[in-house]
Amino acid sequence: MHRPTCGEFLSLSQSTLAAEVGRRRTFAIISHPDAGKTTLTEKLLLYGGAIHLAGSVKARRAARHATSDWMEMERERGISVTSSALHFDYGGFRINLLDTPGHQDFSEDTYRTLIAADSAVMLLDNRKGVEDQTRKLFEVCRMRRIPIFTFVNKCDRVGVPPLQLLDDVEADLGIRCAPITWPATDGTNLLGVYDRSAGTLNLFEKGKDHGQTRAPEEVAGLDDPKVEALLGGRARDRLAEEIELLDAAGSPFDGEALLRGELSPVFFGSALTNFGVESFLDHFLRHAPPPGRRPAAKGSEKVEVAPTDEAFSGFVFKIQANMDPKHRDRVAFIRVCSGRFEAGATVLNTRSGKPIRLARPQQFFAQEREAVTSAWPGDVVGIHDRGSLQIGDTLVTDTELEFDGIPSFSPEHFARVQVPDPLRRKHLDKGLLQLSEEGAVQVFFTDGATGPAPVVGVVGPLQFDVLLHRLEHEYGISARLEPLPYRDARWVTGPDSELRRVARGHDCALVHDRHQRPLLLFRSEWVRQSIEGRETKIEFHRMAQG
Ligand code: G4P
Repeated sequence: MHRPTCGEFLSLSQSTLAAEVGRRRTFAIISHPDAGKTTLTEKLLLYGGAIHLAGSVKARRAARHATSDWMEMERERGISVTSSALHFDYGGFRINLLDTPGHQDFSEDTYRTLIAADSAVMLLDNRKGVEDQTRKLFEVCRMRRIPIFTFVNKCDRVGVPPLQLLDDVEADLGIRCAPITWPATDGTNLLGVYDRSAGTLNLFEKGKDHGQTRAPEEVAGLDDPKVEALLGGRARDRLAEEIELLDAAGSPFDGEALLRGELSPVFFGSALTNFGVESFLDHFLRHAPPPGRRPAAKGSEKVEVAPTDEAFSGFVFKIQANMDPKHRDRVAFIRVCSGRFEAGATVLNTRSGKPIRLARPQQFFAQEREAVTSAWPGDVVGIHDRGSLQIGDTLVTDTELEFDGIPSFSPEHFARVQVPDPLRRKHLDKGLLQLSEEGAVQVFFTDGATGPAPVVGVVGPLQFDVLLHRLEHEYGISARLEPLPYRDARWVTGPDSELRRVARGHDCALVHDRHQRPLLLFRSEWVRQSIEGRETKIEFHRMAQG
């Protein structure tokens, strides 16, 4: 028997690494609440062979809530704030779906999760098109220039005419849309979806679980008499007219433009009836990119880390506290960026300079947690942590490397945190610091860390409830929040005297974050925009790098 030599062994492991990278697709779904994200997630899991899980994502959430102390609160409110990563195999691919909170008050968490994704699926309700939350999440994807696929959902019922819907998306988001599939209707009812690239017609039958049971009809273009037989003359003419229009004036699919984040392939379907989901998934897997290079620094040098680099590297993008109240545990979610993640290995936390053992790593599959022995670039692994990790931390075996930090996103609600007993102030500061390192809130100071009570900023007000609850239950601090009248903020750079002048003159607040970076808080978006338009010596930033 031939035993591999050392050189052969190395190239063998290198080709395993390349193969594992090549078959991974790591993405998140971005949508406005109610567009159908939970339903689509369920249906995607179905294709991963988790048939028994269909209909159980909501149950999964409920079950997880029941195991969590402070999440009791959200269970009572019937919302979901948690997020983790689900993985499943389909057609030879390993798919990592980064699950994000359903409630928009926790969208800061979603923003950060998007930093760990290699692509995104924008889910739209066919009656509503682009909504507020979709727009904000889209902006984060655009900042990262990740490919965005669009799935127009709920097509089992009539919505905005598809041509108009796509015009709206293009005008609103400034991205070109390339419809891959197109709905055939009689004006009132969905009859099927035509796949422009495959030349197939998927017929829709009310009340059937189409995706699972029915193969698409092969048709030789829309002139094929079969199309008329299947749809009827009027619907066929209507479909042919729209497709002709798209062929002439629409954006053709362009894989390069997709990868640059300039063009979005569009699919029509219905997650609820599982219609159009499979063809979407097939196209998605063909065109979504595997894990790519990530920007980092090696000392003062800017570098890019390739997923196929042999040395392990990853970063923490999320910290979930108290997933299991019995153990008061904290799980740090790591996105693997290069090399092979091995359970039990000791790696370095570049920020703190301290070694950390990757003990008891876990991956998540619906409601199950499973132990992980190894993972590859694109995968997300949760490791237990006792407070040594922060959001944005780089974990490496190559000691010098540090990934670009995870940005902080400007909050929209602010409050001053008061503790009745001044002797508890130190405890409060410690609690707030830890919670801000976990990404639960952002903390600001008005006049140095020893000045008046700190200000906390959040993207959604429910984060305040979580903050008070956690301060009380985890730190024994009963704090009170005094709401502040600011609704918008920007990190600012410019001469200190200018920042103070603007703050004084416009009834703004000048605060500093925990990295001593100044921010201006404004009473409204309108005030902020008018100041931004006038002040030329100051630069305004919606995000601050890690
Ligand atoms: P979310 O996670 O984005 O918030 O949305 P979710 O999947 O919970 O779906 C929101 C509502 O939209 C649900 O109805 C769901 O059944 C419905 N829905 C999702 N996909 C489709 C679709 O393709 N077609 C139609 N017609 N409806 C769809 P609900 O009444 O709020 O909840 P439920 O009682 O059905 O669970």
